[in-house]
Amino acid sequence: MIAYDESNRLFFLETPHTSYILGIVDEEGFPGQVYYGARVPREDVSYLMRTKEPPFVPSENARERGSFLDRFPSEYPGNALGDYREGAAEVLDGDGHRAVQFLYKEHRIYDGKPGLEGLPATFAKENEAQTLELVLEDPVLRLRAVLLYTVFADTDAIVRSVRLVNDSDRPVRIEKVMSLALDLEPEESLGPWQVLTLHGSWARERQMDFRPLGYGKTSVGSTKGESSHQEHPFLGLASAGITQESGIIYGFHFLYSGNFLAQAEKTQFDSVRILLGIHPANFEWTLAPGEHFQAPEAVCVCSLQGLGGMSRSLHDLYRGHLIRSPYLHKERPILINNWEATYFDFNTEKLLSIAREAKKSGIEMLVMDDGWFGKRDDDNSGLGDWTVNEKKLPGGLKYLVEEVNRIGLKFGIWMEPEMISPDSDLYRAHPDWAIAIPGRVPCRSRNQFVLDLSNPQVEEYVWSCIESVLGSANIAYLKWDMNRQLTDLGSAYLPADRTGELCHRYMLAVYRLQERLITRFPDLLLENCSGGGARFDPGMLYYSPQIWCSDDTDAVERLGIQEGTALLYPLSTMGAHVSDCPNHTVGRVTPFRTRGHVALSGTFGYELDITRIPEEDRAQIPAQVATYHRLHELVREGDYYRIASFRDNGFYDCWMSVRKDRSEALLTFVQVRNRPNAVSRRIRIPGLDPAKIYRIEGEIPGEPAPEVLCHGQALSGAVLANAGILLKNPWGDFGSILLHLREMA
Ligand code: DGJ
Repeated sequence: MIAYDESNRLFFLETPHTSYILGIVDEEGFPGQVYYGARVPREDVSYLMRTKEPPFVPSENARERGSFLDRFPSEYPGNALGDYREGAAEVLDGDGHRAVQFLYKEHRIYDGKPGLEGLPATFAKENEAQTLELVLEDPVLRLRAVLLYTVFADTDAIVRSVRLVNDSDRPVRIEKVMSLALDLEPEESLGPWQVLTLHGSWARERQMDFRPLGYGKTSVGSTKGESSHQEHPFLGLASAGITQESGIIYGFHFLYSGNFLAQAEKTQFDSVRILLGIHPANFEWTLAPGEHFQAPEAVCVCSLQGLGGMSRSLHDLYRGHLIRSPYLHKERPILINNWEATYFDFNTEKLLSIAREAKKSGIEMLVMDDGWFGKRDDDNSGLGDWTVNEKKLPGGLKYLVEEVNRIGLKFGIWMEPEMISPDSDLYRAHPDWAIAIPGRVPCRSRNQFVLDLSNPQVEEYVWSCIESVLGSANIAYLKWDMNRQLTDLGSAYLPADRTGELCHRYMLAVYRLQERLITRFPDLLLENCSGGGARFDPGMLYYSPQIWCSDDTDAVERLGIQEGTALLYPLSTMGAHVSDCPNHTVGRVTPFRTRGHVALSGTFGYELDITRIPEEDRAQIPAQVATYHRLHELVREGDYYRIASFRDNGFYDCWMSVRKDRSEALLTFVQVRNRPNAVSRRIRIPGLDPAKIYRIEGEIPGEPAPEVLCHGQALSGAVLANAGILLKNPWGDFGSILLHLREMA
C-alpha cells in the first residue's frame, strides 16, 4: 500500500482505486506533491514536479530560486521564503522572524495507524492500514514537522496529520499549523474546477453549495469555537459537470470540532493549493524547547465516481475506522424526546404519561431534554447547577428513571455541560470560570456564558457533574448539547502569553471529557448536539455514534439538511426524529408517513407529545416501529446512493441504501411538490448487481409496491440501473414512497 522508490525518491501511497505520490527534490530535500488521482503503476513520474523546466528549477538555476519556490508543488509549504502562495505553517521565532521552510530529513513506513495524542483520530489494525511518517525539518529554526499519512486497505481515503517539534533551545510560537496542504496541478481536461462546500445556519445546516473556483483564495471557516452551523470543515474540488455517479471530486474533511479553515487557492499557473487545518485567527501556541504540538487529522478522498463515490469512501472510513461506539453496528433504541413535546414545561407525571403511551406503540426509550435541573423553567438560568429540580421531579432522577424502567422503557437524559448561566449558583460562586475578558462585559448568547475549560479545575468540576448525574440512576443515553459559540476570548486562568491557546485548549478539554465519559460509562449511548447540528463533524463521531442533525425536524427542510449531511456522513450518524405538525420551526404540515420515511434514513425516533397527537398519526407508529426494526440494518450498514435531489429538480428527492452484498436495497422517494398533468417519475436505480433479479416491495413485506408501474414484475439490476422503473406521483404535496428491493431466491 505504501512504497518508497529510493532511486527516484518517490513515495507511492495507494488506496484500492487511487494513488497519492510525493517526491523529494534536490539535495536540499524539497518535499513535493507529484500526483493524486486514479491508481497508477509505480513508475517514475517525478517529471511532473517540473524541476527540469527553467526557470522553475531548484538549485540548478540559483538565479531564479524565487520562481522555483513560488511554483513548486510543495507538500508542506512554509512562509516568507519565496513561495507567495499561502503557506501551511507560520511561526514567530525568538528574533521576531516569521520565516519557516520544511525540508526532508528522514522517513519510516509501518503497518497500522497510530492514534493522536488527545485528539480524535482514525484507527486501524496492523493489517488494515499502512502509515508513512515523513519527517521534515527547518534546519535554521530546528523545528521538525512530522507528517503522518495513512492509507487503508478497504476505502479510498487517506488521512494526514502534522506534529511540530521544537528541537531548538529557544521557545518558538506557532501562529499557524495546517493539517493538510495539497498542491494540485492545472487540470484543463477536467474543465473548470467547481468548489463544493456545505453552508448553513441554525435549522438550515449543511446545504450543498457549488461554485466555480476563481483566481485567488476561496475559503470557508469557523472562528466560533465549534465547527458551526454556518460552514462545515469540508471542501470539495469537483470536475466540471460532476454528477452523483460520474466525474472526479477531491474531498477534504477535517477531523476536528473547533475553529477551522478550508481553503482553495487558484494560482497564476492555474494550479490549486488546498489548505485545511485549525483556523489561524485567534490561534497561537508557544512551544518551549523540546515541546511538540499535535495538529488534528485531515481526510483526503479522491473519487472517480462522482459525489456518490466520495460519500461511500467517507462512510466506509467513518464506520470502519473512526466511530468506536459499541452501538455502531447495533440497532439503536427507538427514543421519544420530550423537547418539542413540552419544552421546559414538564414534570414527572407528564413524562410518565408520555412513556406509558410510547410503550404501547413500541417505542423503547424516553429522553428527558432541557429543564430538569437547577432553577430552569426557561433558557435564562440554571446551567452549571446540575442538581435535579425536585419541584418538577419529586423523588429525583432515581424515582423517575425507575418508574420509566418499570413501564418498560430505557431512560435518557440531556445535559449541556460546557455552559454556565449568569443566573446560576455556579456563576455566583465562580464568576471567573466563564470565558470573558476583564474590563469588557461579556457577550451573552441564549443568555448564557461558556465555561473556561482551559482551566483544569473547571474541567474537573464539569466531569464531577456529569459523573454524578449519570451515576445517580439507570441512564442509558446522554444527549450532550452546546447552545452557544465562543466570544470574548479571555481566560482568568491562562497567562497573557497563552491566551491565544484558549480555543484549542477548550476543544482538547471537551475531547478529554468525552473520552472520560465513554470510558467510565461504556454502555452509554452518547448523542452529541449543538443547538441542532452546529457540532456535527468527524471529531465528535470519535466519541458518539450519532449527532443531532438539526433543530429543524420538518420533513421537507430535513431533505436538504440530510442530503448535505449524508454527502459526508453515514446515515446511521444522523439524529432524526418524527415530530408534530404544524412543524414548530417552519409551520409546514406534512403527512405523518412522510415524516416517518425521512426520519428512517437517520437514527429514527420521535419528538412529540404522543398523548396529544391526532389518533390517525398515533395509529401509524406501531407500523413505523416495525419498519424500522425490519429495515434499519440496511440504512445503518448499507452503501448510500443519491438518486435525485429536490435541490436540483424542484420536484422530488430520492436516495437509497444498498446492502454491501447487493442482495437488497431501501429506496426513499419524497415528492415535495406535486405537478399537474405530469407523467409518472422515471427512476433509475444504481448500485445493484446487474446480474441479480430483484422483486420490488413496498412497506408491507412480501407485497409488490402499489406505486411502481411495472405490474409486480421482478427486474434485473441491469434493467433497474439503466432502464429504471416508473413511480406513480403521490397525490398532493409532500407524499413519499418507500421501496424495498429484494434479490429473488
Ligand atoms: C438545542 C437542541 O438542539 C434541542 O434539541 C434541545 O435539546 C435544546 N437545545 C434544549 O435547550
